[in-house]
Amino acid sequence: MSSTLTKEQWTERAGRPVSRTKLWIGGSFVDAASGKTFDSVNPRDGGLIARVAEGDAADVDRAVAAARRCFDSGAWSEMAPLDRKNVMLRWAALIREHAEELAILETMNCGKPISDSLNVDVASCANNVQWYAETIDKLYGEVAPVPRDSIAIIEREPMGVVGAVVPWNYPLIITSWKVGAALAAGNSVVLKPAEQSPLSALLFAELGAQAGLPDGALNVVTGFGPTAGAALGRHMDVNKLAFTGSTEVGKYFLKYAAESNAKAVSLELGGKTPHLVLDDCPDLAAAASAIAWGVFYNAGQTCHAGTRVLVDSRVEDELLERVRDVSRSIMPGDTYDPSTAMGTIVDRTQFDRINEYIKVGRDEGAKLHTGGEPVEPVKGGVFIPPTIFQGVTPGMRIEREEIFGPVLASVRVDGVEEAVRVANDTQYGLGAAVWTRDVSRAHRIARQLRAGTVWVNTFDRSSITTPFGGFKQSGTGRDRSLHSIEGYTNLKTTWIQL
Ligand code: NAI
Ligand code: MG
Repeated sequence: MSSTLTKEQWTERAGRPVSRTKLWIGGSFVDAASGKTFDSVNPRDGGLIARVAEGDAADVDRAVAAARRCFDSGAWSEMAPLDRKNVMLRWAALIREHAEELAILETMNCGKPISDSLNVDVASCANNVQWYAETIDKLYGEVAPVPRDSIAIIEREPMGVVGAVVPWNYPLIITSWKVGAALAAGNSVVLKPAEQSPLSALLFAELGAQAGLPDGALNVVTGFGPTAGAALGRHMDVNKLAFTGSTEVGKYFLKYAAESNAKAVSLELGGKTPHLVLDDCPDLAAAASAIAWGVFYNAGQTCHAGTRVLVDSRVEDELLERVRDVSRSIMPGDTYDPSTAMGTIVDRTQFDRINEYIKVGRDEGAKLHTGGEPVEPVKGGVFIPPTIFQGVTPGMRIEREEIFGPVLASVRVDGVEEAVRVANDTQYGLGAAVWTRDVSRAHRIARQLRAGTVWVNTFDRSSITTPFGGFKQSGTGRDRSLHSIEGYTNLKTTWIQL
C-alpha cells in the first residue's frame, strides 16, 4: 500500500479522537449491557487511546442472537453466490480506501511500526477478504460414485453461527483469515478481538456493513477473555469456534465445547520454530538475514517465529555474527516513524514476561550474545531490542517455552540426526526451516519434521493460497487456502433413489 505520510503526519493522525469504541451488534454500535468500559492503552508511550465498551456474557448473547437471526433469515447465507462475492469485493476495496485509518489504529493498539501496519497488516487483510470473496462462486459440490439406481450429491453447507476469538499480534490478518473464510462459506460471525487490540476490528466490521453485509452477519464484542471469550466458547447457539492464541487458552476452548454443545473448535496455538542450519548451508548471509527477520519481525510476537537455531558447530560463530549484523537494522524505534523496523512489545504484561525469560536464560547458564536490556526510543514505551542467546542446550526453558518476544536461542548440534531430533523434541509443531544445498537431504528432513509448514532455504514465505496451522500442541485445523473453508462448513449428502 502506498502512503507518503511523514512521522509528523502520522503523529497528528494518532492524536485524533477514535470514533468507534462500542460493540458492533446487529449492524449498530451499542454500549455494553453493563455500561462498563476498559482502557485501550498505547504501548508506544503508555498513553490512553480510548475507553472501549467491555462486553461480557449478556452482550455475547445479544450478538449471537443477531447472528442467528441473520443466518436464519437467509439474508447472507442464501444470497446468490455472485452477489455475496460482490459484497466481499466491495469490502476489500473499502479496506484499501481506509488503509491509513486502519493502519494507525493497528499501530496504536499493537505497537507495530506504521509501515508494517500499512504494508503488511492492512494490505494482507484486504487481499485476504478479496481472495475469500473469489472462492464464493468457484467452489462446487460433488456427485459420488454410487450404484446406478441412485444419485448422491455432496454439498458444503455453512455451519451457522461462528465465534472467532483472536489475539493481538496480527489482529487484522488473523481476523480476515477467520471471518473471511466463515462469511465466504455463508455463516454469520461473532468476533471477539483481544483486549489489547479492539479498535481495528470495529472499523473493519463497519466497512463490511458499508459494503453490503446484512445486519448481524458480522458482530464484534470487545472485552476480556475469561468473560466475553469464555461466553462465546460456552454458548449453546454457536456452532463453531475458531481460536488463535496461547496453547493454555486453546485447551480451555476444547473444555468449553465439551461442557456446552460440542461445537466444532479449530485452534492455532503457539510454536517454537527451529531453523536447522546444516554444515552445507548454501548461503550463510541469506540464512542469517532470514533468521534475524524471522525472529525479530513484529518484535518476535509471531506464533511461527523462528526462535531456535539448531546450528552445526562448524558454522555457528559466523552465523551468529551475521545475525547480529542484520539485527542492527531491526532496532526498536518510534512506531509512528515510517522508517522504523521494530516497534514495541504489545503491553507491559508481555514486556515483563519477556524480560523474565531473558533473566531465566541467563540463570540457566546460556550466554547473552546480543541485546537483553530494554531500550526507550520513546519515553514510557515498552521496547526490547533484538536479543540472542548462545550456548543454549535442549531442555532449557528458553529452548522449550514460547517467549513471544525478540529472543533467539542458538543450540549447537552435530549432524543431521541430532538436528532433527532436537527440532522435533518439543510440544509444538507449527513451522520449521532447513538450510542445506542438498535437495534429497532437504526432502528427507522435511518429511521427518513434525510441523505444519517446512521452509527450505528460506523462511516465513507465505500466501493466502497455502494452509497455515500446526501439528501437535500448535493446534488443529487450518487457516488460509481452500482447506480452511472445510473448517467452516458441514458436508451434506443428499441420496436420491432413481
Ligand atoms: P491469550 O491466549 O490469553 O489471548 C488470546 C485471546 O484469547 C484473546 O482474545 C483473549 O481475550 C482470549 N482469552 C484469554 N483468556 C481466555 C479465556 N479464559 N477464555 C476465553 N478466551 C480467553 O494470549 P495472551 O495472554 O494475550 O498471551 C500469552 C501468550 O500466548 C503469549 O506470550 C504467547 O506465547 C501466546 N500467544 C500466541 C499467539 C499466536 O499467534 N499463536 C497470539 C497471542 C499470544
Ligand atoms: Mg492470556
